[in-house]
Amino acid sequence: MYIIFLGAPGAGKGTQAATVARGLKLTHIATGDIFRQAQGQKTELALKAKEYMEQGKLVPDEITIQMVLERISQPDCETGVIFDGFPRNLVQAKSLDKAFGQQGKAVDSVIYIKVPEEELLERLSGRWICRKCQAPYHKVNSAPKVAGVCDRCGGELYQRADDNIETIKNRLKVFSDETAPLIDYYTQSGKLLEIDGEGDMDEVGNRIISALRK
Ligand code: AP5
Ligand code: MG
Ligand code: ZN
Repeated sequence: MYIIFLGAPGAGKGTQAATVARGLKLTHIATGDIFRQAQGQKTELALKAKEYMEQGKLVPDEITIQMVLERISQPDCETGVIFDGFPRNLVQAKSLDKAFGQQGKAVDSVIYIKVPEEELLERLSGRWICRKCQAPYHKVNSAPKVAGVCDRCGGELYQRADDNIETIKNRLKVFSDETAPLIDYYTQSGKLLEIDGEGDMDEVGNRIISALRK
């Protein structure tokens, strides 16, 4: 099973993808998480990605696509993947379709998590994430048991460099200019499942699971 989670910054892709991937035993691939995790290693890829992420722009396609195609060739992706934050434009979507086509695979469903902009701003400005495992928290909506410490792995929580109001605005614009066209792209192929992303996290999770069951 190959599922894509699509949504604006702060829509809850990471939160929901982690839970659904655990439940369905799928591998969770989050391109943003991979880029952030690489920062510690100071590789050429990491430094290049950082430059774009800090401005809220998309990392160039040639870097991103190659990285994802390499990742999905790993054995843990054989039985299924949840893509979180990939593809983010038509070039990426078509590259994934082409690569899958050559392997006799296909994207099964695209979960589009829809949340109003006002709510996105509130979620992103209160978010803290784990430096070690990238788990997302929120100072009000999903606070950790001990302030500043990840419930899951004990890692240190921090605020992402791109979660400041100016960069958030750029990210929202990039979403509407470059990523939103994917809503039409996957509607045309009959794969899009639109989910109301407002309300309790468990409730949103249940909506996703029941949409996938149908
Ligand atoms: P990425 O890390 O993917 O960031 P994003 O798309 O901006 O999305 P976020 O991670 O900010 O939001 P989310 O939807 O995961 O929300 P979350 O679950 O954390 O990408 C970062 C950058 O990397 C990009 O800008 C780009 O530069 C680069 N990049 C990544 N992929 C790329 C690609 N394919 N191509 C090119 N460049 C790429 O939730 C947000 C907050 O809300 C949390 O605090 C959470 O606790 C809270 N929350 C979640 N659900 C709820 C709920 N139901 N109610 C209340 N609060 C909630
Ligand atoms: Mg995320
Ligand atoms: Zn952690």
